[in-house]
Amino acid sequence: MLEKIKSIKAEVEAFQPKTIEDIENFRIKYLSKKGSISALFDDFKTVPAELKKEIGKELNILKQAALEKINTLKAALEIDEKSEIKVDLTRPGDPQNLGSRHPISIVRSEIISIFTRLGFIVTDGPEIEDDAHNFGMLNFPEDHPARDMQDTFFISPGLNILLRTHTSSVQAHEMSEIKPPIRSLSPGRVYRNEAISARANCFFHQIEGLYVDENVSFADLKQTLDYFAKEMFGESAQIRMRPSYFPFTEPSAEVDVSCTLCGGSGCNVCKGTGWLEILGCGMVDPNVFKSCGIDPEKYTGFAFGMGIERIAMLKYGIRDLRLFFENDLRFLNQFSSDV
Ligand code: DAH
Repeated sequence: MLEKIKSIKAEVEAFQPKTIEDIENFRIKYLSKKGSISALFDDFKTVPAELKKEIGKELNILKQAALEKINTLKAALEIDEKSEIKVDLTRPGDPQNLGSRHPISIVRSEIISIFTRLGFIVTDGPEIEDDAHNFGMLNFPEDHPARDMQDTFFISPGLNILLRTHTSSVQAHEMSEIKPPIRSLSPGRVYRNEAISARANCFFHQIEGLYVDENVSFADLKQTLDYFAKEMFGESAQIRMRPSYFPFTEPSAEVDVSCTLCGGSGCNVCKGTGWLEILGCGMVDPNVFKSCGIDPEKYTGFAFGMGIERIAMLKYGIRDLRLFFENDLRFLNQFSSDV
């Protein structure tokens, strides 16, 4: 019996099928009810008791080997057959998804490109700030509500380390580290302790502009922003300035652009006013110059700050701020640009 097992084992090992039918024939020959391995199991009854253990073991190994052989050969042949059908060398390749730039990146690049044409250079500041650069040097009084935990994320309240609430903090770095003339543009992420909604998020992006030199006037500021609005929203875009208040500029203004949707005649986006707010600005407050070590008698300057999401929403007609942060490809795929 052991001899027989050995010779069938050799046959099983040597078996090389060409087709699925060969494998089926192999199964019938060895493992079907009348197959030779099954026959050995039938004969097993006649094996003397003292040999049963050894022969039984060998027999089981043989059966297992035959089953495994069938399974692996079948799987390999099936893959081969499938891949034969798949190979069509004339078929066009699958398109590669190249992705697209995020609308915030596109708009940021566009804003930068507009202001660099006027001689502004891009500068950077830290997102983790101290109270002095974010508030103190910018003339925020000690009890200003923005310093409240409700509005600001403090990392360590005792040491007054916080996540910057605006990119105006970069102004404080610039002016205390470089001598005028300064013409800088500082894009970056800012953080505020706000509930997330269609109009607010706990972090967003701003761009800060700063121009300090001798004889810089409010007229220069207005002209610069008018140029920006026309480049960004089209030749027909108009701006208007409304008096406002920021601790770090005096006088201060908020700037509106003629509604990008109705052109100024009034619609539900501009709530019938014909105007949309785009940024805050003003002439650098002499107190800010003093705290940064710049002589306010000699120099004047203007500053402005805008939210990149806000500009992107107006430019593309996006109604919900959360879309920018959800990474939904159905939204992101709609944007393309060469900047
Ligand atoms: N920092 C202000 C904000 O976050 C925006 C701003 C207003 C920036 C007036 C300025 C400015 O530079 O002059 O709302």
